[in-house]
Amino acid sequence: MPTFLSRSAARLGWALAAVLSVAVALFSYRYVTFAGLLADNVMANLMARPWIAVHAGGAATALLVGCFQFLPAVRRRRPLHRWLGRLYAAGCLIGGGAALVLAPTTTAGPVAAFGFGVLGVLWIWTTVQAWRAAHARRFDDHRRWMIRSFALTFGAVTLRLYLPIGPMLGLDFMQTYVAVSWLSWVPNLAIVEAYLRRESGRNGEHRSLLTDPVSSRA
Ligand code: HEM
Repeated sequence: MPTFLSRSAARLGWALAAVLSVAVALFSYRYVTFAGLLADNVMANLMARPWIAVHAGGAATALLVGCFQFLPAVRRRRPLHRWLGRLYAAGCLIGGGAALVLAPTTTAGPVAAFGFGVLGVLWIWTTVQAWRAAHARRFDDHRRWMIRSFALTFGAVTLRLYLPIGPMLGLDFMQTYVAVSWLSWVPNLAIVEAYLRRESGRNGEHRSLLTDPVSSRA
């Protein structure tokens, strides 16, 4: 049974993740129109036009709606949950497909290309698995695959949180960029995988702190 403390921590964690997700998503839409502050290294990518616009449009939409799907109040409104889910999955597939076009030509070199490439494949794969599970009415599998998918979507937030750390450690921007092409998502996936394993190990525990962060039940 989740304690009052663990439930409060889950609520706070969800609120923080939601604020960061919405902020990064809204700020990323500038790439859809190529207007505003654009990163030079990204615009130097040979495939930047038009693929950054396609990527940022799809990925930012997934990031914008994804965290709200974890609210029980949204999931209880079935049509809303389904429509947001379709929007989320479309965003992941469009954003992920465009990411696979962009990854090989990143100016950050082969290690970053591989990091973004593996992330793109896993992002599409986890989202397709979640969609198939929902379609087959295997809702517990659906929930678990969506948690994995969103952990990868959230990589857009962790990437931007980690980018300023490299220069503090004496790394230049490109070295930092290469490192975060992996570090932005591998720990996210490891953390949710450990959480899901622990959860399935606890017999009789059906309430999930990740998908029920703001439930009123204690
Ligand atoms: C999770 C899978 C993702 C993959 C595989 C991925 C991959 C990429 C790649 C390869 C680039 C080009 C980098 C370069 O040329 O050096 C890029 C840039 C970008 N991505 Fe993603 N991305 C993902 C998720 C997201 C999400 C969820 C967002 C939503 C906000 C996002 C927003 C952007 C933006 C705005 C850029 C332009 C660069 C910047 O300002 O940092 N990406 N991404």
